[in-house]
Amino acid sequence: MIRIGLVGCGHIGTVHAVALQQLTDAELIDARLTATFDDDPDRAAKVARHQGGEPRETLEELLDAVDAVWVCTWTAGHLAAVEAAADRGLPIFCEKPLAPDLATATSVAAALERVPHQVGLVLRWAPVFRNLAGVVASGEHGRVLAAVMRDDQYFPVQGMYGSTWRADVEHAGGGTVIEHSIHDVDVLRWTLGDPVEVSARTASRFGYSGIEDTAVATFAFADDSVAQLTSVWHQVLSRESSRRLEVFCEKAVLWTDDDYLGPLHVQTDDGEHLIESEAPSWSSRFTLPAVYAKALAQYAEPSKAFLDSLSRLGTRRAPAATPVGHPRAGDALAAHRLVDLVYRSAADGGVPKSVN
Ligand SMILES: NC(=O)c1ccc[n+]([C@@H]2O[C@H](COP(=O)([O-])OP(=O)(O)OC[C@H]3O[C@@H](n4cnc5c(N)ncnc54)[C@H](O)[C@@H]3O)[C@@H](O)[C@H]2O)c1
Repeated sequence: MIRIGLVGCGHIGTVHAVALQQLTDAELIDARLTATFDDDPDRAAKVARHQGGEPRETLEELLDAVDAVWVCTWTAGHLAAVEAAADRGLPIFCEKPLAPDLATATSVAAALERVPHQVGLVLRWAPVFRNLAGVVASGEHGRVLAAVMRDDQYFPVQGMYGSTWRADVEHAGGGTVIEHSIHDVDVLRWTLGDPVEVSARTASRFGYSGIEDTAVATFAFADDSVAQLTSVWHQVLSRESSRRLEVFCEKAVLWTDDDYLGPLHVQTDDGEHLIESEAPSWSSRFTLPAVYAKALAQYAEPSKAFLDSLSRLGTRRAPAATPVGHPRAGDALAAHRLVDLVYRSAADGGVPKSVN
């Protein structure tokens, strides 16, 4: 049985803890949350009380007692936790973004590469984007001409996020682009490939220095196709988080308004059809109301896959280069490089920046 330690027991740490607890209780993984640590001991104690494990007083104490680590601190805390876990050869699940800036993200990625690891770019596991990436890669509808991604969320210092660090550039690195839309940048890269040029404009209207609430970025590709990302943090509290992605190909328009199960709409000369998806059938074994079970499955599926891979390795201290886990540090770092270019272009009044 793999003993899991959770470092950072806030919003997403708790979501992961609930997912791990449900997976364990349903006997879907050979692993269990056994230790929690947070700079705020009350948070570590609360997760341990409700989701299992023993609260530990220090990071070192936690690392001494586990076989794998989930790093869910705020963004600026990832480097120290990842390096300490990697120094012990422990497999690591690290939340996105890797770090507040590209240089630190490079260090986090280097530490992750020393051990079996996975990063929390959870949209890579969303069936709707897997279907989209598959359809685009097949070429059945011709070349991609353009893509439009819109991502909007209420300013996440309130509501279910309730975190103040997202308004602090030292902790978050920026606003809606790095904190939320790094997921979108990753999906665009995954679906369309690497762009050759990035240009962007950003604005901060809510009074938090360095925390942009509005961004429009354009990614230009070598084949003359173009993707546009509009990313907004607003104050519409009835609208938690939503995404719409449209991909225009030569012979079809593909789009979705739901970033997990879709459906993926495919419109061609023959009309429109839907590619539907379902949450993994095993999520019906979760002892939660169906609406929560579906939401939780988004996080449970990648965690289960990572833990299954670790179990298959047959050793908890796997050789450094073992390519376990998906997506990996390299995927996250590539998204960070594009996010960095978005910020550099915006700081330069929207002047395009070359990739490379
Ligand atoms: N993949 C996703 O869908 C997703 C969703 C939400 C958040 N995130 C990411 O997860 C991370 C945490 O976000 P959150 O919403 O849970 O924030 P949060 O504020 O709710 O929780 C962060 C916790 O980390 C603790 N912490 C900070 N530094 C620490 C350290 N050095 N050691 C131990 N604990 C420490 C804080 O006390 C706090 O309890 C961020 O990087 C965020 O971008 C990812």
